[in-house]
Amino acid sequence: MKNHTPHAATAAAGKTRDAFSSSFGVLAATLGSAVGLGNIWKFPYVTGANGGAGFLVIYLLATLLVGLPVMISEIMLGRKAKSDAVTTLRTLAPAGQPWWLIGAFGVVAAFLIMAFYTEVAAWVFAYVFKALRGDILSSSPAVTSAAFKGLISDPVQSLLWQWGVLLLIGGILLFGVAKGIEAVTKKLMPLLFVLLLVIGARSLTLPGAAQGLSFLFTPDWSKISGEVVLVAMGLAFFKLSIGMGTMITYGSYFRDDQNIPATTLRVMSADLFVSMLAGIAIFPAVFSFGFQPGAGPALLFITIPAVFASMPFGHVFMVLFFVLAAVAATGAMLSLLEVPVSVMVGRFGISRARATLLNLLLLGLIGSSCALSNSVLADVKLFGMTFFDLFDYLTSNVLLPLGGIFICLFVAWVWGKQKMMEALSNHGVLDNGKIVKGLHGLLKLVTPLLILLVMFKGLGLI
Ligand code: PHE
Repeated sequence: MKNHTPHAATAAAGKTRDAFSSSFGVLAATLGSAVGLGNIWKFPYVTGANGGAGFLVIYLLATLLVGLPVMISEIMLGRKAKSDAVTTLRTLAPAGQPWWLIGAFGVVAAFLIMAFYTEVAAWVFAYVFKALRGDILSSSPAVTSAAFKGLISDPVQSLLWQWGVLLLIGGILLFGVAKGIEAVTKKLMPLLFVLLLVIGARSLTLPGAAQGLSFLFTPDWSKISGEVVLVAMGLAFFKLSIGMGTMITYGSYFRDDQNIPATTLRVMSADLFVSMLAGIAIFPAVFSFGFQPGAGPALLFITIPAVFASMPFGHVFMVLFFVLAAVAATGAMLSLLEVPVSVMVGRFGISRARATLLNLLLLGLIGSSCALSNSVLADVKLFGMTFFDLFDYLTSNVLLPLGGIFICLFVAWVWGKQKMMEALSNHGVLDNGKIVKGLHGLLKLVTPLLILLVMFKGLGLI
């Protein structure tokens, strides 16, 4: 059968295509991609800035109505074609139709996300060391703010930490899919949950923690606008690593006996759980010590250290917290970099080692525009934003949603229900008929229209 044929490049080398080797490995790697700085860095500050619980409800709706269908679709396409994001759409689309552009734009999005993501990861890794040395142990936000500004406005430190992060991720990817991505995420994901539970328990047992919980769980609808809904949807895309080929790529490493809808649902729920736990670890503590939650992207690097410094054994918890963020960031970055690496290997037959090296060099260049966004390039602005902010805004609010729309259209209108049925039932083995029907209904109109509407409204076009 066509879909079980290894790609030409690997077939020529006489090898079978590298893939995830166990069911737990599939789960760990996919969850490793979804869980990331999105949960620990973005989710808390975006929720904080947009009114807490009301935003949360919209985010949940976006995850279910938009995120879940797109994520299942991507994984399904990847596993069917067993190829990189560009080749997958090229193989599955009727000859001559340019659906492969979804994959190509995905590669662009992967670069833009990596450019700013590796910089936030760079701060996180730097903070692990700073926390260990006790450098940022002050309960005064003025002091922690000066420490953060000192780091981000130093071009040399910013660049070196970013390149260090890139080398770490590239180094893991050199080992391939099973021995690199899968092996590492299998160790990191359990560690992440343990750390999160320990820190969450600490935060919840602080005096006045209830105020933080009510902020997170009592909706204030007055803060919800078109722009806020767009931000919630953008976050859902970013969180689930969809709309840009990451899940197509990872889907291509899925086992044939894996139940795709069930696995996706598990990943989505676990990812939500991590975000909630991160919120529970952060907001009660923030309120308990009288800080404000809507501190913007700096919440993690200015408010959090001050919060930790205010509590008993705060030094230990601060170290654990930044290790947690570093662990989360690592799994996500592996999946981001794997998108262009797999395209180079799959489409152009370049070796994995060369492809990784080439991408690292390119990212070192593109990423430095973000690393320097708070120092030498602080005044270089496009649409009123620094490179860092622009890449962040453009990917979450434009590129990923657009990619999502086209994935829906391709699956529902070009590929069709029959093929979905075959792919999601593992050729009749699983009884996923109802899920396919519901999914097809959503993908045909509801999901793409919702995305389009939210995009237009949020960007002020309607
Ligand atoms: N999902 C990751 C996070 O939440 C980020 C990411 C986006 C990873 C897109 C891969 C692709 O941090």
